[in-house]
Amino acid sequence: MAEAAAGLVAGQANASIAARGRFMIALAGGSTPRILYRALGSSTNANLLTWGPWHIFWSDERCVPPDHADSNYRMAKEAFLDLVAVPADQIHRMRGEDSPDAAAEQYDQSLRQVFRAALPAFDLILLGLGEDGHIASLFPGTAALQEKTRLVVANWVPQISANRITFTLPLINAARRVVFLVSGQSKAAALKEVLNPNPALPPLPAARVRQKSGELHWFLTQDAAGLL
Ligand code: 6PG
Repeated sequence: MAEAAAGLVAGQANASIAARGRFMIALAGGSTPRILYRALGSSTNANLLTWGPWHIFWSDERCVPPDHADSNYRMAKEAFLDLVAVPADQIHRMRGEDSPDAAAEQYDQSLRQVFRAALPAFDLILLGLGEDGHIASLFPGTAALQEKTRLVVANWVPQISANRITFTLPLINAARRVVFLVSGQSKAAALKEVLNPNPALPPLPAARVRQKSGELHWFLTQDAAGLL
């Protein structure tokens, strides 16, 4: 799954760079993507890919410092960013150490500046899937799911009694490409509900990824797809 996803990311990077001179990617947090990031940081890819035009973002972050064990930034840094030549000022970290609202506002503004657009269209947004169907830090029943105008918000998540910083659905749904990486039997039930939703139930956050004109790719392991 990781090799296949790395192949798609590399291909889209080269295509975006050829078309627009840069590659704008938002990384997923959690543990699943680590194998993809390690594949991107492998000696082959590290030397083969043109990293200079890459801009790295995160679709969410925990409210912790960048060196904290739970930091999505730290996970990606250790898995591949320390191994590839993306210019440091093109690695756009969410400031988990700041107050959640301030960090979200800062990131929202920086996106609009870097993309020079009111609604940035990422070349690729990577997402994982929570067992409850959450994406980024858009957990079921949380306020951020209702956000219609801001790109990035702070979100209090009662399920984990923690604040998070997260992309909102308008930003995710503006992406040219969204790529899901789903691994493990524990995700099979959520995946089934996302892909074959029960109309009597409110849609899970992952089921609300509906880009206007973008591509949606699912990379699944056998066990995650076990109920499809
Ligand atoms: C995070 C992620 C979150 C993650 C899912 C799946 O910050 O944790 O953004 O949305 O993708 O919770 O996590 P795993 O890959 O660890 O199962």
